Amino acid sequence: MEIKKLLSEMTLEEKASLVSGNDMWTTKTLERLNIPGIFMCDGPHGLRKLENDTEHVGMYDSIDAVCFPTACATASSFDRKLMNDLGVTLGKECQAVDVSTILGPAINIKRSPLCGRNFEYISEDPYLTGELATSYINGVQSQNVGTSLKHFAANSQETERMYADSIIDERTLREIYLSAFENAVKNSKPWTIMASYNRINGEYSSENDWLLNKLLRDEWGFDGVVMSDWGAVSKRPKGIASGLDLEMPGCRGLNDKLIIEAVNNGELPMEKLDTAVENILKWIEKFIEHRHKETFDRDKDHIAAVRAEEECIVLLKNENNTLPLSSSEKIALIGGFAANPRYQGGGSSHINAHNVVSAVSVKDNYSDKITYSQGFSHEEDVTDEALFEEACKAASEADKIVVFAGLPDVFESEGYDRKHMGLPDSQNKLIEKLLGLCKPVIVVLHNGSPVEMPWADKVNAIVEAYLGGEGVGEAAMNILYGNVNPSGKLAETFPLKLEHNPSYLNFPVANHKVFYGEGVFVGYRYYDTKKMDVLFPFGYGLSYTTFEYSNLNVSSTMDINETTTVTVDITNTGSIAGKEIVQLYISDNTDSTNRPVHELKGFEKVSLEPGETKTVSFILDKRSFAWYSTRLKDWFAANGSYTIEIGKSSRDIQLTAEIKITGSIQIPPVIDQDVQLGELLAYDKTREYTEKAFEHSATQFSDGDSDDDAPEMTRAMLEYMPIRTLRSFAGLSNESISEILSELRKLV
Ligand code: BGC
Repeated sequence: MEIKKLLSEMTLEEKASLVSGNDMWTTKTLERLNIPGIFMCDGPHGLRKLENDTEHVGMYDSIDAVCFPTACATASSFDRKLMNDLGVTLGKECQAVDVSTILGPAINIKRSPLCGRNFEYISEDPYLTGELATSYINGVQSQNVGTSLKHFAANSQETERMYADSIIDERTLREIYLSAFENAVKNSKPWTIMASYNRINGEYSSENDWLLNKLLRDEWGFDGVVMSDWGAVSKRPKGIASGLDLEMPGCRGLNDKLIIEAVNNGELPMEKLDTAVENILKWIEKFIEHRHKETFDRDKDHIAAVRAEEECIVLLKNENNTLPLSSSEKIALIGGFAANPRYQGGGSSHINAHNVVSAVSVKDNYSDKITYSQGFSHEEDVTDEALFEEACKAASEADKIVVFAGLPDVFESEGYDRKHMGLPDSQNKLIEKLLGLCKPVIVVLHNGSPVEMPWADKVNAIVEAYLGGEGVGEAAMNILYGNVNPSGKLAETFPLKLEHNPSYLNFPVANHKVFYGEGVFVGYRYYDTKKMDVLFPFGYGLSYTTFEYSNLNVSSTMDINETTTVTVDITNTGSIAGKEIVQLYISDNTDSTNRPVHELKGFEKVSLEPGETKTVSFILDKRSFAWYSTRLKDWFAANGSYTIEIGKSSRDIQLTAEIKITGSIQIPPVIDQDVQLGELLAYDKTREYTEKAFEHSATQFSDGDSDDDAPEMTRAMLEYMPIRTLRSFAGLSNESISEILSELRKLV
């Protein structure tokens, strides 16, 4: 494709037409110019290609495809390679069925357990989210298929998602809600990015010049296509000027007219439209010029889906080694989800799954001593005494009871948020009844987001399977019977109750605004800083073996412009092979601003044979230590002391060491009449001058009182006084204040 030439040959009408979709899922074909339309489809955990009817959203009519574990599950793998492999497989599937771009990954931060779409999102932590998204995108795009990183940005609830205004301060935006996007854009160059439905600080994302032009393109260097979320466009010409290249789905020509009018009357510069067209042409070219033949081997990919889920399941509790089960034990499987697992969520990511495997359908492969009784429905919350009775009878004849519990489809989905954090009452009731039998009870969970577990202290084991894709039944049985040693860890905190969540007072919306009042204190950043009890902490998960941490090696200093390498040894001290997710957190001791008590800045998943030791290394750079200073408009880490923590979870830190950052700057105070004396005294370059200049004022202010505490008290009070107030309290004239300010300006 000769893009510049094509652009020069296109009429205004053709340009206006190319910047919106042809229908729900394809771009326009312009026959006169030989420009083909290309297909895109939802995912991200499988292909939702609407082959025969591209005019409709078609939630449940897509092609037969493999449903891999959803993001809430894959996140728990903490495994970059697994995400990359998943991406490669999906990329090949796309080539096989002629899909140019997968609409994902979805990486909005999990701010509240109630967000209906949490099952599609990765984590409450932006570093983990960014790393896993980057690996996934690199995998897909290695197959010359694009991704659409979504939903950009600050779309962490479903309520009023197409209208609400996310009110967020810039530091919080940068540190929590944008940094995963930044990581993925810089390190995996997604072909496209999807602008979210909502507004951010008053401006819709799909017409937000700051977000799309200044930040995404100018600052981060994004050079792909920005498309709208489906139906997110409000003012189309403004969107083009603000960096939104493609409107999806098609607009039946309605916006073409507005674009043409805006160009003709000078409201929309032609260059802006040309940029959008050029970006779209480059994207089409990338796909069509590198097509290669692939076959979509669904049975082979199904096996990959099972293996992936085995890496994701999190063992949350295992009292007295209740698990693994043995084939000689009599086991009662109970709960509708054992026969009908919930393996994905509702909405646009819904895959028409190829081969759903339930625990019940494979039970005979594990033992001939397994029974099944439904106990409760997997679809609704109804207490059925007859089903309860039948379940209790089967349970009373077993050695151990395994309850497959979870959230029915209607409880969590795209399009609306959950109302509460509970499981259906009928399930909690049956679990309590089964506990009355005084036999070991194991609960396997199918949910896309944390649930309250009123019985957590009483059951013997808990297995979090999340929404684990079409192979979840087999993967869960492999974990239960110990064919696979569990190795997933939670990518989100499970609070004891909803009211403990930091967004609780502001979730979901008030007067059409979403007030991100908890700031950077999201998830464990809040619970850990406040030292609150939680049900299960971030990064937590058990194994059937044990690991020991030793030999933490951290250099004593790091120049902020360099990097440093941290190493630590991990040993498998048990008798079976296993995998450990080693986590590195950093705690800032410099007091340079209000920060969470620690933040995840590194993780590695290591596989160890019994008795084996491996050294894990982490490379840290400025960004690992930094917070976002709106004063500097840059990332900043103060000189001084930080603690490197190596942990099994955010609450189980095994080893720590101190490191000193050197070579950084100090944030200069803004020199105007409102500058506080304390700021001038804290800043090296103004301290000496300030002490001299205000010596006299201090005595004036204290009025020569002879009380012993007076000098200290005076100084403490002066700290927070803007220098303009010394007119009133220390008799300074306007002239002397102006003089002092001009001297200070020379020093900064
Ligand atoms: C969702 C997107 C999805 C699109 C197309 C929207 O409603 O928010 O995530 O990709 O529909 O189905």
